[in-house]
Amino acid sequence: MKKIFYTTLVAATLASGKLAAAEVQKLPQPDLTQSSPALMELLNTRQSTRAYDKNKQIDDQTLSEILWAAFGINKNGKRTIPTALNKQDLKVFVLRANGIWFYNATENQLEKISDENAVPYVAESQAYVNDAPLHLIYTSSDARWGYDHAGSAYQNVYLYATAKGLATVIRGSFNAVKLHRALKLEEKEFVIAHQPVGYAE
Ligand SMILES: Cc1cc2nc3c(=O)[nH]c(=O)nc-3n(C[C@H](O)[C@H](O)[C@H](O)COP(=O)(O)O)c2cc1C
Repeated sequence: MKKIFYTTLVAATLASGKLAAAEVQKLPQPDLTQSSPALMELLNTRQSTRAYDKNKQIDDQTLSEILWAAFGINKNGKRTIPTALNKQDLKVFVLRANGIWFYNATENQLEKISDENAVPYVAESQAYVNDAPLHLIYTSSDARWGYDHAGSAYQNVYLYATAKGLATVIRGSFNAVKLHRALKLEEKEFVIAHQPVGYAE
């Protein structure tokens, strides 16, 4: 049985670099045997959604699979998306009311980098965002290719969401200055996009 467990790490080193994770959430293994609906059907139904059921949460199995679709590591030892020069210059963060979490695909875990609730920084211009139970943030330090990497990742999430009856939208509206500080990004890093995921209202 797949189980989530939390553990406290003292000064664990994040794959992202020098940050230390105070708390780690192990994710269940994504179920990679799911095969339907067919890809063409997913492409035919994909759409953006801007109304979310605030009472319906995303379970940890689904969370794990969303993150894996976005930027996980597949059976070829590759990311689920192609990256320029295979530099894999993309980071995926999860915003929750209880803090900000970095997705460490190698360890299949979320690593808490802050207790801050950063959801208000992505909801300033569009209130519907507050109703989504999950918020992904894509960042990069690659001004030339980072946007391409994020685009591949968020389209993967669109397709996974469509397959699982979830709703999502990719967004370029957020407070970049506040997010940069809250995510503890380095000077050269920048926020590319925000992607809420949930169930349609
Ligand atoms: C780079 C980019 C930025 C976007 N920013 C926002 C945004 O800030 N807010 C929003 O509600 N939708 C945003 N969208 C979603 C588009 O409005 C949406 O994809 C478009 O209306 C087409 O709808 P569809 O995705 O359902 O085909 C963005 C899409 C892209 C590709």
